[in-house]
Amino acid sequence: MTWLDILYHPIWAVSTALLALVVRIQRRGRWDPQACTVQLKGKTTIVTGANTGIGKFIALDFARRGARVIMACRSESRGTAALGEIREKTGNSDVHLRLVDVSSLDSVREFAARILEEEKALHILVNNAGVSGLPRGITKDGLEVSFATNHLGPFLLTNLLLDLIKRSAPARIVNLSSVNHKKGHVDFSHFHGENLTYYMDKVYNHTKLHNVICTNELARRLEGTGVTATSVHPGIVMTEVLRHYPLIVRLIFNLIGFFFFKSAEEGAVSSIYCAVAEEMEGITGKYFDCDCSLTLPGPLARDAALAVKDFEVCERLTSKL
Ligand SMILES: NC(=O)c1ccc[n+]([C@@H]2O[C@H](COP(=O)([O-])OP(=O)(O)OC[C@H]3O[C@@H](n4cnc5c(N)ncnc54)[C@H](OP(=O)(O)O)[C@@H]3O)[C@@H](O)[C@H]2O)c1
Ligand SMILES: *[C@@H]1O[C@H](CO)[C@@H](O)[C@H](O)[C@H]1NC(C)=O
Ligand SMILES: *[C@@H]1O[C@H](CO)[C@@H](O)[C@H](O)[C@H]1NC(C)=O
Ligand SMILES: *[C@@H]1O[C@H](CO)[C@@H](O)[C@H](O)[C@H]1NC(C)=O
Repeated sequence: MTWLDILYHPIWAVSTALLALVVRIQRRGRWDPQACTVQLKGKTTIVTGANTGIGKFIALDFARRGARVIMACRSESRGTAALGEIREKTGNSDVHLRLVDVSSLDSVREFAARILEEEKALHILVNNAGVSGLPRGITKDGLEVSFATNHLGPFLLTNLLLDLIKRSAPARIVNLSSVNHKKGHVDFSHFHGENLTYYMDKVYNHTKLHNVICTNELARRLEGTGVTATSVHPGIVMTEVLRHYPLIVRLIFNLIGFFFFKSAEEGAVSSIYCAVAEEMEGITGKYFDCDCSLTLPGPLARDAALAVKDFEVCERLTSKL
């Protein structure tokens, strides 16, 4: 036997396939959305960034349950394509596209105004739109673009829709954060692009920490209103999330991901769980892991005094002067 014979021996193919199968079975969550019979007929839902990745599968699930689904997307063409796909797959024609660029406060205000005009209720809001690896940029509101997209825009959106959500109680707000929030720090000068270094997803990690902090503070403020707010980690999911990274990084991610990471459909499960599962009724201010288990977020995300301060800073930054 030469070393080439060993290299190409069928044993490798068989064991790789077996390993992949075991990993696939293992990474399947504990909760199965298909087995959950909750119906959303008569309920109105909004999912941001619903044209691809995790958001598309969240919207698809809500549509299957008979909800009125508003897909909040920034691209008309990408949004329309996903809208057609979801309508066709579910037979639900009460699925609609509304355009919003969550990184722009003006766009968020316009979007929210239209929703308040057109919708009588809002039972589920999923803040899913997000970016990773964007180069440094400052929006016309003077905000650093990753912070504007992942945190301040969605923060404003949630606040503008809050009265409608409260009137629709019981209602749920679900925010997609990430386990990366544990590596984030809070420095309010970050919001303006100061004191930031752009390496190893550091900026992303900071933004995802603000998500958990403000979700928890919002939950505290909403106590007794019948509106709950939870944050989730979707898992490591094969989506377009690395679109701003070099091709080689994406190739390696996808190669490893094929065996070990979740599909976008699997990545949507923990968010769907928080949004619809009966056992989640009334549970608020908590963080859920990708297997739908209740998990303690990082220490900074549990600092109540920091949360009050962060929420106030974000309110000030997103209020009209
Ligand atoms: N994938 C992971 O491993 C992972 C891990 C932890 C957390 N997450 C979180 O999960 C969420 C969904 O990510 P994904 O993996 O599904 O990513 P994705 O495939 O890149 O999808 C992101 C979605 O957000 C939209 N979006 C981005 N910027 C926007 C803006 N300024 N205004 C409106 N929409 C915008 C995108 O729209 P376009 O298509 O038009 O750009 C797209 O629909 C994000 O919050 C992400 O941080 C993902
Ligand atoms: C989740 O909600 C909070 C409170 O409104 C908001 O500050 C935060 O930006 C939201 N998170 C996401 C990912 O949109
Ligand atoms: C952030 O940078 C400013 C100057 O731009 C500086 O005054 C401040 O101390 C820095 N904050 C932190 C936490 O490093
Ligand atoms: C951001 O979080 C990820 C995942 O926890 C970690 O691998 C990475 O090192 C973090 N980046 C920095 C700069 O802390």
